[in-house]
Amino acid sequence: MDCDVRDLGLAEKGRERIEWAAAEMRVLALIRERFEKERPLEGVRIGACLHVTTETANLVETLAAGGAEVALCASNPLSTQDDVAAALCEQAGVDVFAIRGEDNETYYRHINAVLDHRPHVTMDDGADLVSLLHRERPEQIGEVFGGTEETTTGVIRLRAMAADGALRYPIVSVNDADTKHLFDNRFGTGQSTVDAIMRATNLLFAGRTVVVCGFGMCGRGVASRARGLGARVVVTEVDPLPALEAAMEGYQVMPLREAARIGDVFVTVTGDTSVIRREHLEVMKDGAVLANAGHFDVEIDKRALEELSEGRRRRIREFVDEYRLPDGRRLNLLGEGRLVNLAAGEGHPAAVMDMSFANQALSVEWVVRTRGTLTPGVHPVPDDIDAEVARLKLRAMGIEIDALTPEQEDYLRSWEQGT
Ligand code: ADE
Repeated sequence: MDCDVRDLGLAEKGRERIEWAAAEMRVLALIRERFEKERPLEGVRIGACLHVTTETANLVETLAAGGAEVALCASNPLSTQDDVAAALCEQAGVDVFAIRGEDNETYYRHINAVLDHRPHVTMDDGADLVSLLHRERPEQIGEVFGGTEETTTGVIRLRAMAADGALRYPIVSVNDADTKHLFDNRFGTGQSTVDAIMRATNLLFAGRTVVVCGFGMCGRGVASRARGLGARVVVTEVDPLPALEAAMEGYQVMPLREAARIGDVFVTVTGDTSVIRREHLEVMKDGAVLANAGHFDVEIDKRALEELSEGRRRRIREFVDEYRLPDGRRLNLLGEGRLVNLAAGEGHPAAVMDMSFANQALSVEWVVRTRGTLTPGVHPVPDDIDAEVARLKLRAMGIEIDALTPEQEDYLRSWEQGT
């Protein structure tokens, strides 16, 4: 295969870990079985820019089972699991371009390598692939008949492109499916972020003050899991509605300039830039831990950390950079300010990625089936796909639910009956 990975010798270890994840991805397994029989993606070239993890490997193998040829690169320089990249290249016939810790130039070279495979369908997590394609290789866009986008940040970028009239083909916003953001963003980000912070620091959460910046679905997950471990959780927000929800959930809500003075652990989950800035860093306590769980490494001002510490930085643990300020205070940045759950942990657990990636696989099938009929722009996941993923997940979990009686159905259709 055409690959650029760290070490093909890691393939066996990668294979075992991919199998381990597969046991938790039962919805995707059902889709794979059907794809093997029906081959709905026969002859389709897919260019994917996703976190290269055991869960993504199961998605890519499902697409390949459906007949697709897949080329894969990383959607973050620090999220690649090198053993998985090796296994996909060596054993699954996938062209993989991903090396954990790759520099910026290599990151974009790898995206270009995926585009060299002339994809018909793009799969993105953060919209770097789509953005590069539109900016630097527009002559190829006519060959692409659709795409999918995994994450909140990517969907925001695509909507900005569409508003500018720049987006030239249809892309399905997988993130907006209920069976994606209500589960992956909340339970996935919640657990994997707290897990990664614990792995990186071995910190006790009980009794600590954890400041969660942003109370979207991801922020809700982080806040609830930190509280479950006994932390005192403070939420900061810019939007009155989620701020009110956080307050009524029992979290303390205050501006970051106040929270900065009392926090032990800070987690940014906003999707926006420059959330924790110099003025916040200046008043933080000695030993404060800073982690970002938003898509890009722009939420914590790393340059301000460099300037304040006048270059006194050391890697004190594998995923912890300690910045020492002139007055002796130490601020600890995890995973270089990149997505902490993938940089210092393994990302979301397979059981939740099962639902996100079932939506991905079914959305790709839909894009292929409806080829030529969708207008350029951002399209929601069709409701029947969302409902099917929920139904299959319940089945996989061995959970049955009730059905409406005919009388209840009639009642819901009627408007005459009241008090
Ligand atoms: N995004 C968050 N967690 C992930 C995982 N485990 N695999 C792929 N993408 C992810």
